[in-house]
Amino acid sequence: MTKPIRRIAICTGGGDAPGLNAVIRAVVSAAANRGWECWGIRDGFTGILQPHLYPKGGVVQLTREHVRGISHLGGTIIGTTNKGNPFHFPVVQPDGSVVDTDRSDELISYFVRAGIDALVSVGGDGSLTIANELHRKGLRVVGVPKTIDNDLDKTFTTFGFDTAVSFATECIDRLHSTAQSHQRVMVVEVMGRYAGWIALHAGISGGAHAILIPEIAFDLDKVAAKIKERDAEGRLYSLVVVAEGALPREGERALVAEAEIGHAERLGGIGEQIGAELARRTGKDTRVVVLGHLLRGGSPTSFDRLAAMRFGTAAVRALDEGLSGVMVALAFPNVNYVGLEEVAGRMKAVPLDCDTLQTGRDLGICFGD
Ligand code: F6P
Repeated sequence: MTKPIRRIAICTGGGDAPGLNAVIRAVVSAAANRGWECWGIRDGFTGILQPHLYPKGGVVQLTREHVRGISHLGGTIIGTTNKGNPFHFPVVQPDGSVVDTDRSDELISYFVRAGIDALVSVGGDGSLTIANELHRKGLRVVGVPKTIDNDLDKTFTTFGFDTAVSFATECIDRLHSTAQSHQRVMVVEVMGRYAGWIALHAGISGGAHAILIPEIAFDLDKVAAKIKERDAEGRLYSLVVVAEGALPREGERALVAEAEIGHAERLGGIGEQIGAELARRTGKDTRVVVLGHLLRGGSPTSFDRLAAMRFGTAAVRALDEGLSGVMVALAFPNVNYVGLEEVAGRMKAVPLDCDTLQTGRDLGICFGD
């Protein structure tokens, strides 16, 4: 018989994604309906591990009043970070060096001291891997899948993805006319880490002529040939959508910064590289647009908003049913629960045999292979 819940906490970790506030409101409301208190941890677990940074409290109570009218807002009212892994926390030493430190025991004892019976952890692969490890250490945890990248396994989609794809599609739509007017090649770089979901979905929806994703190592000669073929047919402009993690057949992934303690490597820059090279190989005027963090901002689409609310309330139901160590997932038409250990450390890449990719090929889009 699991201990009845009186008080839960929620944290949001990793890069922000549209829909986080809708999840927070859903969790707070569903908890309040059960007579539970809900507390929000600031900036991942930083509110607990570095409380001195928060004069008004690193962990704050969230009532219905605090979450009223926030579902349509981007960002997260409790903040997030992709630097605060409690199992690999960067602790600065007196000599200035940084030591990779496991501070997870401190976290667990905080929950015990504060009378917090369970945690709802909202995040992507990194945060859910941490959630799984905390569960293994005895904490009651339920995960909620968040990321614009849609690269989490065992769920059809994550909230944030639809908003990112919708915005990227609108941007590509807008670039058609200017590219056409100037007879240019436009290269559009989108986020997605090592998965090509955003590039693939937005590229096809926006009518791109070439789409380069990490799952298919690309040969720029193929892309240049596609652009020349279009030119020969009198279609004097082309749009190339490239995922930030796209991999040249010969060469390296473009990085902005190497990984450091508690922080993954930062991808970016492939758009500029491709733009320069395509200009050289085709002789065409070329411009590069990096959508970057614009994809993480703005109001969640209704799909993401609803997904976030379904996930948030389902997380509370899971705790009410005595579950722990699970992630809420979307398995059409319903949400279900999957073990966090089935998700932790895994990545959902675009399957090479999926029909969306086949759709792109049948539409004549070049994938650089
Ligand atoms: O995982 C979400 C994401 O937006 C990735 O697509 C991107 O590589 C990364 O976060 C960028 O993170 P940041 O610039 O916040 O460190």
